[in-house]
Amino acid sequence: MSGGVYGGDEVGAIIFDNGHQSLRVGYGGEDSPKAEIPTSLGVWEDATENSDSNHVGKKRYNIDVTAIQVRRKDMEIVSLMKDGMIEDWDMFERLAEYTYKQRLHALSEHHPILMTECPWNTRVKREKLLELMFEKFNVPAMYICKNAVLAAYANGRSTAMVVDSGATHTSAVPVHDGYVITQGIVKSPLGGDFITMQCRQFFEEKNIELVPACLVASKDVIREREAPRWTRKSGSQPTASWLSYMIRELLQDFQMNCLQVSDSPYDEDVANALPMKHFEFPTGYNDDYGSVRLMIPEALFDPSNVKGVGASILGVGPLVTTSVGMCDMDIRPSLYGSVVVTGGNSCLQGFSDRLNRDLATKTPPSMRLKIISANSSSERRYGAWIGGSILSSLGSFQQMWLSRQEYEESGKIILDKCA
Ligand SMILES: Nc1ncnc2c1ncn2[C@@H]1O[C@H](COP(=O)(O)OP(=O)(O)OP(=O)(O)O)[C@@H](O)[C@H]1O
Ligand SMILES: [Mg+2]
Repeated sequence: MSGGVYGGDEVGAIIFDNGHQSLRVGYGGEDSPKAEIPTSLGVWEDATENSDSNHVGKKRYNIDVTAIQVRRKDMEIVSLMKDGMIEDWDMFERLAEYTYKQRLHALSEHHPILMTECPWNTRVKREKLLELMFEKFNVPAMYICKNAVLAAYANGRSTAMVVDSGATHTSAVPVHDGYVITQGIVKSPLGGDFITMQCRQFFEEKNIELVPACLVASKDVIREREAPRWTRKSGSQPTASWLSYMIRELLQDFQMNCLQVSDSPYDEDVANALPMKHFEFPTGYNDDYGSVRLMIPEALFDPSNVKGVGASILGVGPLVTTSVGMCDMDIRPSLYGSVVVTGGNSCLQGFSDRLNRDLATKTPPSMRLKIISANSSSERRYGAWIGGSILSSLGSFQQMWLSRQEYEESGKIILDKCA
């Protein structure tokens, strides 16, 4: 190693892509992440004293899909993220420890780490992350990169308008030559969680009891719309946050399997003519769903009819046109020419087609519009991770790593090297 530049590229870099739904993690150079772990943890207080590694004072954490399904009367499900950024550093540290040990079976001090961040991450949080990874996890080198930039790379672009629809928000982020144009970022709080909430309201209005599979001990096979006959698993009464989280998972299943974005603005007749889809709940209750399949996701593209959503909240099309409008005239054609669609919620069937249609009517005729969305839903869900995987294995990137030596010599100022 010379001049503080990290030269340890013989071992694989590890890529961490954090979101409100999950942390995607795996090795650079690979096609997809090794693991996807919820960024919501089970948190409870332990009265007994012991020196278990998951023990911080009296707080205990249940991490990953199976452990958070455990029902405890005092376990709350808490997200470690807020507004796209890491909020609870203690929980993040536990999650990272677990990830290295249980999911990657790797030592943090052996692998450089590339972490994604949302485009509006703050300096204070970046510094905190740098400090945590160098001082607690002893990583040999690190880099922090904007998730929108990485999603553009994953789609073969260094200039693009990146539309990311995740769990908690949808954003339009202009990227030019690998840099985010910060003043052009536009976002709305309508993402997958909002769709889940709409589904929940719909079923509650129909008096359909939502019971997660992990609470159902047995159920009878019944006819459509018949009252379900099922028995509840014995055990303690869970907390409200746990129940909400498990119901969210059940509704996400409905979202993925039944919902579809209408290819033109919602029309009752078109929606009624849509083929029905059958859905069975864990209690055995089942029904065919028709127009609601288009009606619920319509709010993403036209929030004007949704109760409780302010007029200032933009649909996906206007997010993009507003964002482009805030960028320099010279680069607008290249942004409209590369609209990259990414994020789990963009996997809703018909999402890209509708965006194409809404934008086509708004794009100036002189500009070519091109929507770029990966074919498979996993490539769309893992866009930022895949971009990180590609970037970390480029020869030209190796000089970009922030090495431990640089950190020790210069401190947090080295973060200026990360765009
Ligand atoms: N195949 C699918 N069809 C429809 N929705 C999907 C599909 N796969 C994932 N989703 C939805 O995508 C959302 C999660 O997206 P993603 O993994 O991009 O979120 P995140 O990056 O963790 O969260 P955020 O961007 O808010 O921080 C969830 O609401 C989930 O229901
Ligand atoms: Mg995201």
